[in-house]
Amino acid sequence: MKGVILAGGTGTRLAPLTTVINKHLLPVYNKPMIWYPLECLARSGIEEVLLVTGGNNAGDFIRLLRDGKQFGLKSLQYAYQDGAGGIAQALGLAEEFADGDPIALVLGDNILERTIEDVIQDYHEQPSGAKILLSPVENPQAYGVAEIENGQLIRIVEKPTDPKSNLAVIGIYLYDASVFEIVKTLKPSDRGELEITDVNNAYLSQGKLTYAVLDGWWADAGEDIDFYLASCNRVAKSGANLPPMK
Ligand code: G1P
Repeated sequence: MKGVILAGGTGTRLAPLTTVINKHLLPVYNKPMIWYPLECLARSGIEEVLLVTGGNNAGDFIRLLRDGKQFGLKSLQYAYQDGAGGIAQALGLAEEFADGDPIALVLGDNILERTIEDVIQDYHEQPSGAKILLSPVENPQAYGVAEIENGQLIRIVEKPTDPKSNLAVIGIYLYDASVFEIVKTLKPSDRGELEITDVNNAYLSQGKLTYAVLDGWWADAGEDIDFYLASCNRVAKSGANLPPMK
């Protein structure tokens, strides 16, 4: 499995912090935000990663992360997203990198307490398709929300005004190579973006979407300034470190 990390977008919800700094380079306690998802992938056994970014300061990522060797990666590649067309549009840029292999897609502002090694192992046991991770939240209106009946995933609704559960779809998704065909069929949503929730619902309608509830805490550091602060505090409190590299 290869890894794809998304670190583009305009970061408007954290302005003015993000006026000249890419959101994913803001400090979260003692490391830049992007460090956490990258470490999480590397410590989950992923060796090849593509980082998708954009904007005026894309070169900052290369200065910071270089060739990824400091994370134990075999290779760290970079792709440039022109404009901010949404998560699924950025994902589309990873098709050549994936080259037919399954991928773990991670949003660059998502911080996890633990690795996703077990989730990847479970994913490899399903014949094809996708797997998402859910985590209970107090503000489901801000996320993709999973509707579950008798343990069965029924649908995912993006930012529902009347959420049917408190289970947010977190920003880590495991996909097979058919994801790139799905992305090509998407139409922009009301917010003008290609939505990752539409990708997940497409897998669901094919009967090829599984889910797991995440072990450990999850923080969406880019949600807004209060979540950003809460993420910094959470990381500081927890010691700011995933288990050591194997
Ligand atoms: C995005 C996804 C949403 C998901 C969230 C996780 O939201 O659209 O489904 O729950 O990431 O962080 P956005 O950050 O674009 O508001």
